[in-house]
Amino acid sequence: GRIIMSAVYEKLRTCLESIQKKVDFKPEVALILGSGLGDYADEIDVVQTLDYTEIEGFPTSTVAGHKGRFVFGYVGKTPVVIMQGRVHYYEGYAMSDVVLPTRLMALLGAKKLILTNAAGGVNFEFKPGDFMMLTDHITTGVPSPLIGENLDELGVRFPDMSEVYSKRIQEIIKTAAKDLDIDIKEGVYAQFTGPNYETPAEIRMARTWGADAVGMSTACEAMAARHMGVEIGGISCITNMAAGMSKEELNHKEVQETADRVAVQFKKLITEIITKLND
Ligand code: 6GU
Repeated sequence: GRIIMSAVYEKLRTCLESIQKKVDFKPEVALILGSGLGDYADEIDVVQTLDYTEIEGFPTSTVAGHKGRFVFGYVGKTPVVIMQGRVHYYEGYAMSDVVLPTRLMALLGAKKLILTNAAGGVNFEFKPGDFMMLTDHITTGVPSPLIGENLDELGVRFPDMSEVYSKRIQEIIKTAAKDLDIDIKEGVYAQFTGPNYETPAEIRMARTWGADAVGMSTACEAMAARHMGVEIGGISCITNMAAGMSKEELNHKEVQETADRVAVQFKKLITEIITKLND
C-alpha cells in the first residue's frame, strides 16, 4: 500500500524537490549567517541564489536585516550553501519550520554545518566585539525540534547530544583564529526564545547553569542537524553584555552596530575555517 508520510516529512520532501528542480549543486558545507553577517554570502564565488519565496512550502522570514535566500557557491574550492537570513522561533513559526532550512541543506548533501549568531555576553570575561566558539549549548523555553513523530529517514528517535559541536571542528576554529591572529573565546551558548531580552535574574540563572552567552537561535538548528549526523561548528559574535551586566539598556541597534563593527574579521574567520575544514 501507499506509504503515509508525516506532515513534517512531506513538507521537507516538497521543498527538497522544489529546490532540486531549480538547483543542481551539491554543497559540502552549510553555513547559517547571524545578525550583521548577511553580506558574507555576497563575497563568495556565487553559482546560484534561490529566494525562500521560490521554494514551495517554505517558511519565509519577516525580520528586518534578513534577506531570506539560499546562496550556492564556492569558498575557495569548497562547495557551500549559505542560509542568508534565518527563521527564528520568536517570529511564531512552528519549531519544525524553524529547522526546515537546516534539514534541507543537510539533505542537499552538506555533511558539515557552521552556525553563527549575535549573542549577549554572560561571562564577565567577555566584552562586546568578542567572538566565542561554542563548546556546547543549553536551551530554556525552547522546545526540541525533534518533538513529534520521529523522522526515521533523518535519524534515530533518541539522538545523542554529547558532542553537538564537533571537537574536530573546534580545533579547526581555534587554529583558524590563531592563524589570523584573532582572539577567540569559547563557551556555552544558551538559547532563550526571545524576542524580549532576558531579565537580570534570568541572566544570573543562565550563568549559574554554565552559560557564557545568550541568544535566540542556533541550539535548535544544531539539534536538528545533529539528529541527521551532521558535523557542527558554532561561533557567536558577542554584540553586547546581557541584562544587568552594564548600565545600558539592551536594544537591537547596538547588536547590529557591534556585529557590523567586527564583520570584516568575522568573515575572514569563517573563510579560514571553511578552507581548513576540507584540508
Ligand atoms: Cl542579551 N539575549 C538574547 N537572547 N539574544 C541576544 C542578546 C541577549 N544580545 C544579542 N542577542
